[in-house]
Amino acid sequence: MTQSQKSIAVLPGDGIGPEVTHAAIDLLQDCASAFGHHFEFREYPFGGNAIDSCGEPLPKETLAGCRASDAILLGAIGGPKWEALPLGTRPEAGLLGIRKELGLYINLRPIRLRPALRGISPLRPERLADCDFEIVRELAGDIYFGEHKINAERASDLAEYSVAEIERVARYAFERAAARNRHLTSVDKANVLASSTLWRETVAGLSREYPSVKLDHLYVDNAAMQILLRPSQFDVILTGNMFGDILSDEAAALAGSIGLIPSLSRGRKDQPALYEPIHGSAPTLAGKDVACPLGAIFSATLMLRESFGMEVESQWIEAAVDRVLGQGYRTTDIAEPGSRVVRGSEFTAKIRSELQSAPVQSARRSSGA
Ligand code: IPM
Ligand code: MG
Repeated sequence: MTQSQKSIAVLPGDGIGPEVTHAAIDLLQDCASAFGHHFEFREYPFGGNAIDSCGEPLPKETLAGCRASDAILLGAIGGPKWEALPLGTRPEAGLLGIRKELGLYINLRPIRLRPALRGISPLRPERLADCDFEIVRELAGDIYFGEHKINAERASDLAEYSVAEIERVARYAFERAAARNRHLTSVDKANVLASSTLWRETVAGLSREYPSVKLDHLYVDNAAMQILLRPSQFDVILTGNMFGDILSDEAAALAGSIGLIPSLSRGRKDQPALYEPIHGSAPTLAGKDVACPLGAIFSATLMLRESFGMEVESQWIEAAVDRVLGQGYRTTDIAEPGSRVVRGSEFTAKIRSELQSAPVQSARRSSGA
């Protein structure tokens, strides 16, 4: 086994961000000691707390620290304290800023049901079937980054895509699909929007380079319905920034809770990628030790897998999580009748003690040590 040294920039953020991020860091530390890696964590202000301490949501030193890292772990940002601020100065502007500055144009959101949690999905098991798909959301363009105008009478937001912007994210989605079940569904609104018409033509044109992947197109309204009717029909969904934001929350609810879903945001392969749970900062839960750390923990395992090539390590942690869930331990938001409801910190402690009893030696052997 090769032992690695990695530096991880940590942006805990606001609300429950710090507690869930620190749970993930604890597990990453356990992983480092078990497998002989060295992970160095450096924390930076970001979001609302950075507005308070530095006067801006994305301070320069935070950005520089992210650029110098091997990967970035982010908690969540925002809260009522900063809601009255003008749009471009709020914590969310920090998130959009970091995506833009680091060129993070790909956003991957894996929608996977943990076996022990099937019961908490709002869909009946027969409808749910084997729900396991990925959403590839374009992250650096669309209505998010087009010109925003507002005066007392009128406001507008420009939804814009270039061929190059569509192609670079679509290539990633085709490659993900080629490595999975070879089915890509591109989602747009090409019956109404010009940007979607270009989207559809560009994705269709690119599909000639990926003959092993079956490409379908769906209009976004239909896609929203199909995700609820028959989620098992999807393998990889490719969509733009705005539709991806909405569809990924819907899909996360199917997997049981938005609190469970991680994400990867990346640009060029040689640049650091950013990992974050897709949930928000949940200010009403903050500091009460009730938040579910799984979105952050699965973001950490996604980091191990996608940025560091540590598949075995990633599975070692995920298997421990599944065993703890299988024993019935849950935080409040993912509890069912009969669950053993524990606090967030107790839940993390259960996973850590499960890791201590896990067979690292055999995991090491299978990673080629
Ligand atoms: C997400 C969030 C962000 C987005 C907000 C906080 C700006 O909803 O990452 O999905 O809209 O992209
Ligand atoms: Mg969102």
